[in-house]
Amino acid sequence: MDRSYQRIDVVEDLISTMTLEEKVGQMNQYTGFWDPTGPLPEGDEAIDKYEHLRSGLVGSMLNVIGAEETRSLQKIVVEESRLGIPLIFGYDVIHGLKTLSPIPLAEAASWDMEAIRKSAALAAREASAVGIHWTFAPMMDISRDARWGRVMEGAGEDPYLGSRVAAARVRGFQGEDLSAPNTIAACAKHFAAYGFAEAGRDYNTVDIGTVTLHNIALPPFKAAVDAGVATVMNGFNVLNGVPVTGDAYLQRDILKGRWGFDGFVVSDWASVGEMITHGFAADGADAAQKAVSAGCDMEMESRMFIRNLRQLVENGIVDEALLDDAVRRILTVKYNLGLFDDPYRYCDEQREANEVFAPAYREVVRDMARKSIVLLKNERNLLPLKQEGQRVAVIGPFIDDDSSPLGSWRKAADDHTAVTLKEGLMPYGNVEWIFEKGLDLLMEERVWTLETKINTTDRSSFPAAIDAAKSADVVLLAMGEHGFQSAEGRSRVNIELPGLQQELIEEILKVNQNVILLLHTGRPLDIVWASENVPAILLVWQLGTESGNAIADVVMGKYNPAGKLPMGFPRHVGQMPLYYNHYNTGRPVNTQNIEDFVFWSHYGDVENDALFPFGHGLSYTTFEYANLNVNASGDVIEIEVEVQNTGNVDGEEVIQLYIRDEVASVVRPVRELKAFDKVSIPAGESEVIQFSLPKASLGFYDGRGEYRFEPGFFQFMVGGSSDTALNTRLEVR
Ligand code: NOJ
Repeated sequence: MDRSYQRIDVVEDLISTMTLEEKVGQMNQYTGFWDPTGPLPEGDEAIDKYEHLRSGLVGSMLNVIGAEETRSLQKIVVEESRLGIPLIFGYDVIHGLKTLSPIPLAEAASWDMEAIRKSAALAAREASAVGIHWTFAPMMDISRDARWGRVMEGAGEDPYLGSRVAAARVRGFQGEDLSAPNTIAACAKHFAAYGFAEAGRDYNTVDIGTVTLHNIALPPFKAAVDAGVATVMNGFNVLNGVPVTGDAYLQRDILKGRWGFDGFVVSDWASVGEMITHGFAADGADAAQKAVSAGCDMEMESRMFIRNLRQLVENGIVDEALLDDAVRRILTVKYNLGLFDDPYRYCDEQREANEVFAPAYREVVRDMARKSIVLLKNERNLLPLKQEGQRVAVIGPFIDDDSSPLGSWRKAADDHTAVTLKEGLMPYGNVEWIFEKGLDLLMEERVWTLETKINTTDRSSFPAAIDAAKSADVVLLAMGEHGFQSAEGRSRVNIELPGLQQELIEEILKVNQNVILLLHTGRPLDIVWASENVPAILLVWQLGTESGNAIADVVMGKYNPAGKLPMGFPRHVGQMPLYYNHYNTGRPVNTQNIEDFVFWSHYGDVENDALFPFGHGLSYTTFEYANLNVNASGDVIEIEVEVQNTGNVDGEEVIQLYIRDEVASVVRPVRELKAFDKVSIPAGESEVIQFSLPKASLGFYDGRGEYRFEPGFFQFMVGGSSDTALNTRLEVR
């Protein structure tokens, strides 16, 4: 039988028999009984959630995991509520459940969509084995501001890369068939423009023009919808004066209207109630009415729907048809997940025991981790290390840290389960390793109060580390930001190396010049001093469970790094927001004018561009680009370039294609990424890489969100970074 007919029957039959209260119940989501991921609403203790489950007043729960735990709550709903409509269990499975992949920003640095898809598929497999049906991921908020701690959760600064990554993650989580036992529903979040929080402060106001909204913030969401994402989460932020949770233009006109999204929209944690605090809603009833009218279908954790919606419909303020539409969307996702066939389908203790943290998964996350590493700098070819005959000092707070690499979205992971750097390096027995931490970054590891616990006083281990460095041929410095220093609510205005690390690097360099910085971080940091003084820098992010092994693979040359930055590194935090795809300004800086006058768009104390730009990343080999040919005579533009591996090892390169539309009715950026291809080229060999761009893809959105292509002169730039010089200009009609 055709499942779509059956689905319509099941869903419509239910809606026709539901009471108003039961409809509101489907739109209500409660957090579980432990481990909340936001502030609990006032009066929460007074709510008897079990009673609400029995009365059909709950459609979903978050933060409940485990085959047994989810089964026991599902049983209450299925057996004791009047209609027995199964719950959908949601959870923040951001980069894995217990087997952790790199943080999402790091994964994006791989520019490898198949690896990213696989990583999300693995996360879905593990999560579905503990009763989870739905992840609150992927986050696809574009951000240009490294002060914002949540950059670690997205795919960086570029809407094209962000769109490709968004689609890959949705496909990974959801697979081909949502009803398969090892796939879960994805959630595109946070709709929209949350990543533009002013001054990089989390939850802060967003005020961007509509051209930026349509061209930069929205494309990844559109890509997720086109990839079939089952749900969307709105957000905490105000966008141009309206909280996005109550924004009908975004949710009804664009998402559900123009894009035809047929899944459901869940609020962010308490974002419905926060519309009162914003000064957009007068009280709970007003907030509920505004959210539902704007297209928010399910409420996470502020109780405005459950307390007010029924009354609002009975008083004729909210049309019941809006509730029917919301419930239809929610029930349809439940149906597609197979929950009406078997509400306990993911509650399988046997599967949980076999499939969670299974050794077989480790190779997938190790591979993802290696692919995420970015070689920022490698003077004198210090990397890779020789496999034997060297004495290597490994110094820094992260040398035997099994926690920080797990990042801060590690809710379900067991503590201390990351492979440490030391564990990764030790198997190379022909190297003489000396491990000396030199300092502890943190006084104490605490999730929510970390900022106050950075070590700024204890230098007692410096001498041992300096001695080790003195006696070594090479020094590896494992330094950076702790995993708990980035993520939600963790904005920072100072993005230099925290604590005493800078001081220690300076001391080490006085005794040994062969220093390689292994930079652990969840965001771009200000590493200007290191970039000028430390000969080699390898960006190792927070790489998840297999961190130490993956870093060792790259450091020891078992794997040739090919990652490229998804977000540029600044010269100074004062440049924020910083992005490669900026406009030209009427007074751009160039080498002729900067010496002579001050009347150009620049800073007096630092250059305008990034220290390491978007798309940058080196390899143990080198690539040269030549013979760029562009043919724009047909409807599809054909671009061709020759790339030669000019070094003596095989390597992979991400070949990036940028365009510039020289004149348009809406000013276009100096460069925008339009395509890329990751290819493997053997040492000494050349390959011709081809891109085919439909003419229409050279277009843009105007301020009303209408897409248009305007003929004229375009530049096509190809290379291994956004600052590539290889450029061809021609007219496209
Ligand atoms: C708030 C975060 O903004 C959101 O991304 C997350 O999914 C929810 N909390 C639930 O934990």
